[in-house]
Amino acid sequence: MSNTFFQKDIVSVRDFDKQKFETIFQATDKIITMSPNERREIGRGKTLGYLFFEPSTRTRLSFEAAMASIGGTSIGIADASSSSARKGESLGDTVKIMSLYSDVVVLRHQLDGSSRFAAEVSEKPLINAGSGTEEHPTQAILDIYTIRKEKKRIDGLKVGIVGDLKYGRTVYSLLYALGNYKVDVRLISPPALKIRSDSTYEIRKRLAYTETTDLEENISDLDVVYITRIQKERFADIEEYVKVKGSYRIGTDLVKKMKDDAIIMHPLPRLDEISPDLDSTKQAKYFQQAQYGKDTRAALLALILNENGI
Ligand code: CP
Repeated sequence: MSNTFFQKDIVSVRDFDKQKFETIFQATDKIITMSPNERREIGRGKTLGYLFFEPSTRTRLSFEAAMASIGGTSIGIADASSSSARKGESLGDTVKIMSLYSDVVVLRHQLDGSSRFAAEVSEKPLINAGSGTEEHPTQAILDIYTIRKEKKRIDGLKVGIVGDLKYGRTVYSLLYALGNYKVDVRLISPPALKIRSDSTYEIRKRLAYTETTDLEENISDLDVVYITRIQKERFADIEEYVKVKGSYRIGTDLVKKMKDDAIIMHPLPRLDEISPDLDSTKQAKYFQQAQYGKDTRAALLALILNENGI
């Protein structure tokens, strides 16, 4: 079967169907079992170019680690203030230049639409590593992979998505992704942080969900609790942030109410949403989730860079 990811951009999860997810998951399962020497043949001689106009720990480092694990190298700009963007160079020119020096470009940018635009000017496949409040598709890939690995299924699960649903771009990509499965989704947020009305039509086309403000009342029903940080940096008015700051916090009291085999996920970074006391509990999967980020990104890069897949 032909590799549909070869030389393709990854801009939005809306472009994904269930088969595409399955292709990446199978490639990830395979790559995990390969020996280091075998893995290093996959990306030998290839270069990943990253452009991060917003801070990142996991996404940037896991892309670099993933590229190294398949035998490739990475070059990039981790802080736009040290690049010629500081002198006024446009996003388009910056992406174009990076695409001349690399085989695949990874972009994080604060503006909605930035990745779609960058994909148009890039000479090489472009991966959206977070565009404004819009999407973070590779996060959704690792999130769904985590659920599949840790719960052994996706269909039939009750998934609670908690916190900043208005500004959290991981939430939108995750909802588009979950639209490929038969899941019961509960959106749990303060009224001011419900999912944006301009996205509800697109999401409702894909999946049914209910909305509530009460995590405690719902937590005993859930198989997956996906909690997110309230994104202070996206609020136009700091007073509005102060009103919702600390709305949800999972500690040992709430974990006792969860199903025994339920899991807690978080795209990270966390602030105070999850007590560190929970890190060693069996429900805590957020660090494992970050580990899967490296594996799924290695698989995605392998598929984009190799016509015959892996
Ligand atoms: N989950 C995530 O995108 O983390 P970073 O912002 O650290 O990349």
